[in-house]
Parts: sequence; C-alpha cells; structure tokens
Amino acid sequence: MSKLVTSGLTKAFSGLVAVNNVSFAMEEGEILGIIGPNGAGKTTFIHLVSGILMPTSGTVAFKGKDITYAPAHMRSRMGIARTYQLIHPLENLKVIENVMVGAVFSKDKSLREARRTAEEICAELELDRLERDTTQLSIFEIKKMEIARALANEPEVLFLDEVMAGLNSDETKGMIATVQRIATERKLAVGVVEHVMGVIRELTQRVIVLEAGELIAEGPYETVSKNPRVIEAYLGGAA
Ligand SMILES: Nc1ncnc2c1ncn2[C@@H]1O[C@H](COP(=O)(O)OP(=O)(O)OP(=O)(O)O)[C@@H](O)[C@H]1O
Ligand SMILES: [Mg+2]
Repeated sequence: MSKLVTSGLTKAFSGLVAVNNVSFAMEEGEILGIIGPNGAGKTTFIHLVSGILMPTSGTVAFKGKDITYAPAHMRSRMGIARTYQLIHPLENLKVIENVMVGAVFSKDKSLREARRTAEEICAELELDRLERDTTQLSIFEIKKMEIARALANEPEVLFLDEVMAGLNSDETKGMIATVQRIATERKLAVGVVEHVMGVIRELTQRVIVLEAGELIAEGPYETVSKNPRVIEAYLGGAA
C-alpha cells in the first residue's frame, strides 16, 4: 500500500488556484522530487499534506486512512513530518531544545527521553555543540536542525522544502548524502523540493512537476527533463 496518496487535491486562495487537481502517490523508501517554477504550488502542496492548510477539494490519505481534514498535530503523530522553506528556529531555545520539541509534542516523550532521542538524531546528522543558542548557527546547521526536529517526530513520510537553498557545494554534497542515508536507514518516503536540478538528478528516483498548481509530468528525472512541456515551463535552456 502507498504511504501517502492525494486525489484531486485542490487549494484556491480567493481567485488563485495554487494547487489544482493533483493526484499522486508516494511509496515507502522512495525519494521523490517535487519541482516546478516559483509560485507553482510546491510549498502549498506540502502545507496541504501536512495539515497546515485545508484543501478546497480533493483528498489526502496516509497508509489508506483518509486524513484530508485531520489537524497538523494529528498528522505529525501519525508519521508525516516536514521542514519549512521559511526557517523558523525557536530563537529563545537551544539547539537541543529545538530538536526536542518534535519528540515532546509529537510522541509524548518525557523531557529525559526527548533529550536522548534528540541527541541521537543530532549525532546521526553530525550536528554538534547542542547547547548553543540558535542565533550562533550557520545556515547549514540550521537546515540540519530543522531536519533533526522533523526526524524527532519519528516520521514515515518526510517533506524537505528547499533544505539545500543557501548551501555551498560541499555542504550540498553532505546534505545529499545525509538525506540518502536517513531515507534508507529509516525506510522513509521523502519528498524533496529543490530548484537545483543537479540535486534532484542525484537524489531522487522519481519526480513530479508542478506548473501553476497542476501536475504536468511525472517520472524519473532523466525522462521528465526531456519532456517538452517541462522544458518550456521550467527548465528552459538549462535542461
Ligand atoms: N496564503 C496564501 N494566500 C494567497 N496566495 C497564496 C498563499 N500562499 C501561497 N499563495 C500563492 O499560491 C501560489 C503558489 O505558491 P507556493 O508558495 O506554493 O509556490 P512554490 O511552488 O512553493 O514557489 P517557490 O518555488 O517560490 O517556493 C503563488 O502564486 C502564491 O503567491
Ligand atoms: Mg515554495
């Protein structure tokens, strides 16, 4: 059974249809790319599956259960986690506490257990000096902290919304390896939104392409990147 299935998923903001009739499925262990031009609806799509926004129409199912209108905290308990394109560390908390938040709120862990979980996950992501204030972190460290917080929910499905943006090429390589490792070790289904096609090519087994809210192509990156409609809508001469 697919981990996550959307059917006819649609979100309109007054006149603008940001996500338009999107049907797709995500399978255990796969890394799926979600690509498309600015404003295509990628972040809105993640908001709809994670429960930050409710759809205008259509459905979302997780492991066969309809969760279309389930609140975000329920979905996070069930196993859907995500990072945010606009990062928002809790600045009055330390790094370790930012990560513990996931384990405390989503898994009802005691503070002691949550700290142990958070320490393990940070070690897995090579994020150290956990007593630091978040204002002292580099972008790379903040992105790792956001992933660590999402993993503290012990998810089965994880969406990463532009976690490579702002990283240099060494950091990007490190992040690609990290995402591959956590996907394999945790048997996660991972949805990756990125604008850097080298990352998508290397990281994903399959991509979906959104344009003006509609899913216009789906398949391995090598195939999709040769699709004339995708080239026209997004890749342009760079493909
Ligand atoms: N809360 C909102 N109210 C009104 N319009 C919105 C809202 N959120 C998003 N939109 C609009 O919906 C469309 C899709 O936005 P979205 O952020 O999902 O795009 P995106 O594919 O993530 O783009 P980017 O690559 O720039 O991050 C855009 O036209 C955006 O302006
Ligand atoms: Mg976005």
